[in-house]
Amino acid sequence: MSPAIDIGATDSPPASVPVALPSRRRPARDASREEMPITGDLVDRYGRVHHDLRISVTDRCNLRCVYCMPETGVTFTDREQVLSFAEITRVARVAHQMGVTSLRLTGGEPLQRHRLTDLVRSLSAIGFEDIALTTNGTALARLAQPLADAGLTRVTVSCDSLDPETFARIRRRGVLSTVLQSMDAAEAAGLRPLKVNVVLMSGVNETEVRAFAQFARQTGRVVRFIEFMPLDAERRWQRDAVYSAERVVEEIDAIWPLEPIWDEHAPAERYRFRDGAGEIGVIASVTRPFCGTCDRLRLTADGAIRNCLFGHDEPSIRDVMRAGGSDEEMAILLRRAVWDKLPGHGINDTGFLRPKRSMFMIGG
Ligand code: 5AD
Ligand code: SF4
Repeated sequence: MSPAIDIGATDSPPASVPVALPSRRRPARDASREEMPITGDLVDRYGRVHHDLRISVTDRCNLRCVYCMPETGVTFTDREQVLSFAEITRVARVAHQMGVTSLRLTGGEPLQRHRLTDLVRSLSAIGFEDIALTTNGTALARLAQPLADAGLTRVTVSCDSLDPETFARIRRRGVLSTVLQSMDAAEAAGLRPLKVNVVLMSGVNETEVRAFAQFARQTGRVVRFIEFMPLDAERRWQRDAVYSAERVVEEIDAIWPLEPIWDEHAPAERYRFRDGAGEIGVIASVTRPFCGTCDRLRLTADGAIRNCLFGHDEPSIRDVMRAGGSDEEMAILLRRAVWDKLPGHGINDTGFLRPKRSMFMIGG
């Protein structure tokens, strides 16, 4: 096992959170919702209305992050199994008619998909409020302006270390300087405010919380610290490797006082620096799940609908389309997938079963 995340127990967490936010853990069953509605919003049994579709455009990636992919021997989906741009656009159009207002393109690494700007252009014509992209930042510098011109509205760049060696240890390929240049290019293309995702792992990069907070303050980029989730292909995840959001907030607040920003729909718990120098967020998927306000739905590169990152059911909307199904049949599949969503991901329950597919196969 690589020393990267093969680490021992961490120090005990601090006693209190400096700034508390309301709980968003799990929704209660809504007794008025016994029957799946056949029109109207995409709603589940718990009353959660779904507005956000995350589309994985490929499971391919040029990096091999330790928290996601195996170092070698990855098998990617055959190209003919992957949705075409026309198929993706069709799913997006049907979802838009059902109340989905924002899209996020993910992967794998979405910029590994050839001519992604063409897809953004057709999605943009549908009329979404927001079309965002999550990228590893290795190929964004050249594409930021064309993507913005095609209708992309926001970008999140993953970057787990500001130290070139630690960066290389985590991502195993790619270099930090390219990713930093990509961030500049995205901002120059008007894709602001830029978000930066940092997956924190104890014993690996948790010592960089302060450096990233400073980076947020100096650049105006919104740094989001993500708890390591059990979605890594090499199955190294262990609870001890999770560096909790609570500790992140404590640590930053002790140096630069923070105050919460209430945002019901963001998975991130957002905080602004009290002195006005920007914002950070924590995504406490493991220690403070936000399932209660989750409004997300996912389309995998091979055309499966996932109602949760940790779900086990994934009905194929690709098969419906390729069997000549109508938009109405696709809508029913989407409606059923949302209706069947469980109240929470259950990572902290006894008997939790990891999903078979890891992050790059589902889409972030
Ligand atoms: N735990 C937490 N975050 C992860 N990501 C990928 N794998 C994991 C994991 N096991 C993040 C990436 C990227 C986003 C799509 O998901 O860093 O920012
Ligand atoms: Fe690639 Fe993203 Fe997975 Fe890293 S986290 S290996 S960049 S898909």
